[in-house]
Amino acid sequence: MVSGMAQTARGRVIDSLAVQGTMKICIVGAGYVGLATGVMFAKLGNEVTCADIDESRVRSVSSGMLPFHEPALEKELAKAVKSGNIKATVKTVDAAKGSHAVFICVQTPSLPSGKIDIRPVKTASRAVARAIRGSDDHKLIVMKSTVVPTTTDAVVRPLLERLSGKLAGRDFSLCMNPEFLQEGSALNDSMKPSRIVIGADDKRSGYELARLYRQVKAPIVRTDIRSAEMIKYASNVFLATKITYANEIANICARLGIDSEPVLAAAGMDPRIGSLFLKPGLGFGGSCLPKDVKALRDGALREGYKPRLLTALLATNDSQPNEAIRMLEKSIGDLRGKKIAVLGLAFKGGVDDIRETRALPLVTSLLAKGALVTAFDPMAMPNFIRIMPTIRYAESAGDCLKGSDGCIVQADWPEFKRLGKKEFSSMRRPVVVDGRRCLDPRKVRASGATYLGIGYGLAER
Ligand code: UDX
Repeated sequence: MVSGMAQTARGRVIDSLAVQGTMKICIVGAGYVGLATGVMFAKLGNEVTCADIDESRVRSVSSGMLPFHEPALEKELAKAVKSGNIKATVKTVDAAKGSHAVFICVQTPSLPSGKIDIRPVKTASRAVARAIRGSDDHKLIVMKSTVVPTTTDAVVRPLLERLSGKLAGRDFSLCMNPEFLQEGSALNDSMKPSRIVIGADDKRSGYELARLYRQVKAPIVRTDIRSAEMIKYASNVFLATKITYANEIANICARLGIDSEPVLAAAGMDPRIGSLFLKPGLGFGGSCLPKDVKALRDGALREGYKPRLLTALLATNDSQPNEAIRMLEKSIGDLRGKKIAVLGLAFKGGVDDIRETRALPLVTSLLAKGALVTAFDPMAMPNFIRIMPTIRYAESAGDCLKGSDGCIVQADWPEFKRLGKKEFSSMRRPVVVDGRRCLDPRKVRASGATYLGIGYGLAER
């Protein structure tokens, strides 16, 4: 029990620190999750040090600038750096040594097999172990990186114990604390989470982490480490399932001459279904959903279980960009030699992240069909040029549309909604496939263009 824990000698050490209001927190990994977590704890009055092996990232954070596009988070980072509540360093061991709590927030990217690459987690764990070995105090170590269930127990804990010569649960605390933040609202999602999951295999570890979160108002779910790891996958796989369900219903609607929008809106009004994440599009991308579905699928297969749903999710998601191409071909015929404008290259509007963006398979298929592609994205173009240097890039959405034989909107940037007569009438053949249902169909049609929304049956008639 929490009150009981406060009476133990070690508990008192943590309590007295917490009462003073300032905890020294080290965040290992200055990416989306690490910086959102760090800025949140700094905003709550703690002293935060972000440690990263990438020097340019550390320089950027030290000057109050984010290495990615997330305006609200950047504003608060700049404030925290100015007030001295956040520092950044490449010296992970020193930063962890001087902290009461250490959050491991490094990336766990997909390997070609779908398995996650846990080498960054291992490197971080080794550095934290060295910090524990060189310290006399009882530290709280928190795994925040997304890892398949049993990784913290099978990899992180043994590394921490072996290299520090100390025992988890006795000499240091160990928790698993998954994050659920969305890019574009990273700080808000951290400050006001739907739940805080605290996975711990001993009472004191869980108690210490709950104390750290005491100013954040959210339901707390206390569980063991393995279940906390699984909660993250269970959540993201459900989101991916919901999106894929919406896509499949929309694809069927389109073929039956039905508009999927009111269909999905009405289905979502059932509280058992829920209206969020029911927007059809060109599939789910980003740093989490595709990676997590693949990793859980790989983990299940390793345990001898065939996860048919997960396999179907990935297959449907892979073919979803073809829906937009199919609609365009139906309207303008063979794409060979046609100039096609692709609007939006990020994995969703509002971010500059191109990880698992559906723009990549979309553009690749268009090129394979002999189309001449011109692309534009308000933020993600420099990142996309690196992976696809050969296509033409435009300076604005209007410039992208000029002289084209058709357009596909791939990401829901709000500014695309402002496109009107001036831009659409500059197309050679004004046919617009709205792959995210983010434009105003009446406005597009009023400009004389043909509007084809994904999952929009009228297009089939
Ligand atoms: C996601 C989860 O939402 C978050 O909880 C987790 O911690 C990390 O992964 P994020 O990667 O920021 O967050 O993307 P999200 O906003 O969930 O969108 C994922 C993809 O699904 C995007 O490509 C988006 O365009 C697509 N999507 C989302 C749809 O196609 N339809 C929807 O209704 C919602």
